[in-house]
Amino acid sequence: MSEEGTTLHDDRLIVALDVHTMADVQQLVTTLGDTVSYYKVGMELFYSVGPDVVRYLKQQGKHVFLDLKLHDIPNTVAGGLTSLMTLGADIVNVHASGGYTMMKTAAERLHAAAAEQGVPCPKIIAITVLTSMNDDDWAKLGETEPIADRVTRLAKLTKSAGLDGVVASPREAASIRAACGEDFLIVTPGVRPAGASIDDQSRIATPAQALKNGATHLVVGRPIRAAENPREAAISIIKEMASSN
Ligand code: C5P
Repeated sequence: MSEEGTTLHDDRLIVALDVHTMADVQQLVTTLGDTVSYYKVGMELFYSVGPDVVRYLKQQGKHVFLDLKLHDIPNTVAGGLTSLMTLGADIVNVHASGGYTMMKTAAERLHAAAAEQGVPCPKIIAITVLTSMNDDDWAKLGETEPIADRVTRLAKLTKSAGLDGVVASPREAASIRAACGEDFLIVTPGVRPAGASIDDQSRIATPAQALKNGATHLVVGRPIRAAENPREAAISIIKEMASSN
């Protein structure tokens, strides 16, 4: 957490822009002002507004986690990530289940493209197992390894392929931190301030708990976006985050 003048902000807080129009994006970003420096753009927003939303956020001096979860053959994923880097994304992601070769090729090609273009290379993180996956769906895929073991296995594979981290639920963060060491990003959604509405999230943690479990970044959407005063809601989450330090 840092204080510039009277503005509190924390670069570990990523606000999910789950809206559909540029007007809604601009309104929220303006309302949150200097309090929020990092935004997540997911499929819904990117597919409706397009690359302009990333350009807009970068023009506003914001960091962007472009959550498009690429999953294809190595050459196609590497090319897709390179295009997203050109837009200025700071974090991009892929599915770890695309395999070691896909992840390694993507990381190597992205680093090479960044060096060639003289731009910073985005952090590349991976989805291990979607947190929406339940035991029944898992069994129907023919899987027998417990989901928790697969999450840790894929996190280690992600690291060995040269990626920077994973997306995980706050409850998976501690075992991933133990398996992958300190220098590994763990970006966790499913964060709810103490006493807040749970919405459709199930495996939740408070901001302080998520950080204590080893998360490096927290993705928060509705508790800020749907608040009567989004700026105050963000500030109160930033204060809760500071209490974990
Ligand atoms: O509104 P809320 O705080 O639940 O938003 C969380 C964000 O993180 C949403 O963009 C959601 O799609 C995303 N997400 C999630 N759970 C996951 C992965 C991503 O909630 N397991």
